[in-house]
Amino acid sequence: MRRVVFLQNVSKVFKDGTKALDNITLEIFENEIVLLRGISGSGKTTLLSLIGALDRATEGKVEVDGVVVSKLPQSALEEFRRKNVGIILQDFGLIEYLSVYENVLAPLIPLNLNKKEAAKRVQEALKKANISHKAQTKAAHLSGGEKQRCAIARAVVNRAKLLLCDEPSANLDRENSKQFISLLQELHTKGHTIIVATHDPIFEELLPTARKIHMTDGKIA
Ligand SMILES: Nc1ncnc2c1ncn2[C@@H]1O[C@H](COP(=O)(O)OP(=O)(O)O)[C@@H](O)[C@H]1O
Ligand SMILES: [Mg+2]
Repeated sequence: MRRVVFLQNVSKVFKDGTKALDNITLEIFENEIVLLRGISGSGKTTLLSLIGALDRATEGKVEVDGVVVSKLPQSALEEFRRKNVGIILQDFGLIEYLSVYENVLAPLIPLNLNKKEAAKRVQEALKKANISHKAQTKAAHLSGGEKQRCAIARAVVNRAKLLLCDEPSANLDRENSKQFISLLQELHTKGHTIIVATHDPIFEELLPTARKIHMTDGKIA
């Protein structure tokens, strides 16, 4: 199977001296669902931010989709992220006064695609997340479940196969968390590799076959 993520002896020390990641070695393969567990402060967000090219490792090698991200110059990191990674954060971060269509189009703007290609990708992402019927609705007017679908469409519109989710259920009730997990399962069947940082037990309950990685003090158990 193809290796999508490879971390080798990765450490991250913040400017104030906090060692958030301590000598992590980790491989994640195509089409895995990985639950990254661990209490608050154990390093989950930091790990996702290195995989998602949002931040750089202090030491070690970070490889994503065969690209050694840890060797890319700062200027190339952002472009790498825009093209290769989908990210879903806790509050989904939709722009409330924009339509679903506009929210999903937004990540493509910096890619300078021609209009036709951009429109095609937006339609494809809306379809994948089952939200095409709400394309013209403002995000503010969506139900909780529809917001999730919109956030998922936006995360996959760049056609990235790697999807990173950081505590996605933090602001969801049980019913909405269930819906979100079934959306992840749909994406998984469509070939996405998914990493979810969460300490919410509902993910283990509903994704019993997912691979679990437990973090403690910046280390993998
Ligand atoms: N920008 C930062 N500067 C300094 N310390 C940080 C920064 N971001 C996170 N940390 C620290 O790194 C450790 C890991 O944090 P984090 O990755 O956010 O953990 P988690 O997501 O598991 O709660 C914590 O001790 C946290 O306080
Ligand atoms: Mg976190």
